[in-house]
Amino acid sequence: MKIFEEIESEVQSYARSFPRIFNKAQGCYLFDEEGNKYLDFLAGAGTLNYGHNHPVLKKALVEYIMDDGITHGLDLHTKAKGEFLESFKHNILEPRDLEYVMQFTGPTGTNAIEAAMKLARNVTGRENIITFTNGFHGCSLGALAATGNAHHRGVAGTSLGGISRVPFDGYLGDGIETTEYLDKVLSDSSSGIDHPAAVLVETVQGEGGINAASLDWLKNLEAVCRKHDVLLIVDDIQAGCGRTGTFFSFEPAGIKPDIVTLSKSISGYGLPFAIVLFKPELDQWKPGEHNGTFRGNNLAFVTAKHALDTFWKDDSFAKEVRRKGQYIEDRLNTIVAEVGEGNFTVRGRGMMRGINCVSGELASKITKACFKQNLIIETSGADDQVVKFLCPLIISDEELKQGIDIVERAIREVCAKTDEMPEERSYFDENYDIAV
Ligand SMILES: Cc1ncc(COP(=O)(O)O)c(C=O)c1O
Repeated sequence: MKIFEEIESEVQSYARSFPRIFNKAQGCYLFDEEGNKYLDFLAGAGTLNYGHNHPVLKKALVEYIMDDGITHGLDLHTKAKGEFLESFKHNILEPRDLEYVMQFTGPTGTNAIEAAMKLARNVTGRENIITFTNGFHGCSLGALAATGNAHHRGVAGTSLGGISRVPFDGYLGDGIETTEYLDKVLSDSSSGIDHPAAVLVETVQGEGGINAASLDWLKNLEAVCRKHDVLLIVDDIQAGCGRTGTFFSFEPAGIKPDIVTLSKSISGYGLPFAIVLFKPELDQWKPGEHNGTFRGNNLAFVTAKHALDTFWKDDSFAKEVRRKGQYIEDRLNTIVAEVGEGNFTVRGRGMMRGINCVSGELASKITKACFKQNLIIETSGADDQVVKFLCPLIISDEELKQGIDIVERAIREVCAKTDEMPEERSYFDENYDIAV
């Protein structure tokens, strides 16, 4: 551990929550140097939807490398890129009747967001972009301006402009349709909100606390965008690639965004990779305008193509995600009903779920108690008050049950001890017997 303390910057974050030296990973498990095994419910913050080192993807990658396939090719046409494009068109775009062109940006989510925002601004000639309370879009300056979180915004060191923020679905409480507010301010030339280029939204806010917009809200949002001639950008970097039960998280709302960003699980293997999809008429870039040395990671093209061919040739994988998502929802609802007594709530969609523990301190105690039982799980939300379930989508029923059992035990343990819970909950001290 000494070397990390000695010369790795203080900026490290996840390493603080899970202070081990990890050196192996397979499927839903991480292994540390001592050979301890950890069930991974963080999965690279949503990057490992198909688990660690998936054998099909690994084989394809190893063969490609052994064959001296191109590793770095700037934005040259390569066989690996062509095959990925074919697979994406055939498995994803055509069955969903989506007509998009694809831009390869620098290989991080935040760079895809920068490109999406630039494109919207340049195509419309307008600067303002509408974003939402609790939204998270990355840490480079343009994306950071669109991000709500004070912790991240606080170190920008410069003004974060060009954004108007409006309330996300549910932000003002149940029964308040916040798209009506957006419609109103966009209809009123004196509202103080400049006619925007675009609305940038996550359908389920990941870092913001697993806040799932309702499908009606998303439909209404699209309608407001169309009414006011504003582009709709869906940031599907965390909620996309199957996480919510369909390839794109917006599919069940029946909407067709103008621009979509994908990263995290698009390579399928944890390799850095980010793309922006947009309607062909928006493709007004001039060559190299949004440049970058690592635009298109050829190793990621290989694994991404095989991930699409393996998991997305029909609806069976997505169906499984929805089934397991329902199981997670049912289990978490039961836990919350028994333990939360009105304090805790369950949120999310598909296999992107959270328990809002109201207090960040409590949520952190729960995730620490989970780690003691070899479960890696993190928090999110403005105060880190939400325990966030992001296990690999390929998880088996048994592993899923085991992981949730650990969380349940941790919650019962922590809530029995904490002062924040009323006295009558002391019955959680009783031995809690779970057949694993
Ligand atoms: C929805 C969303 N957008 C953008 C990003 C930024 O991606 P990256 O960390 O790869 O820059 C994230 C990262 O968590 C995200 O969840």
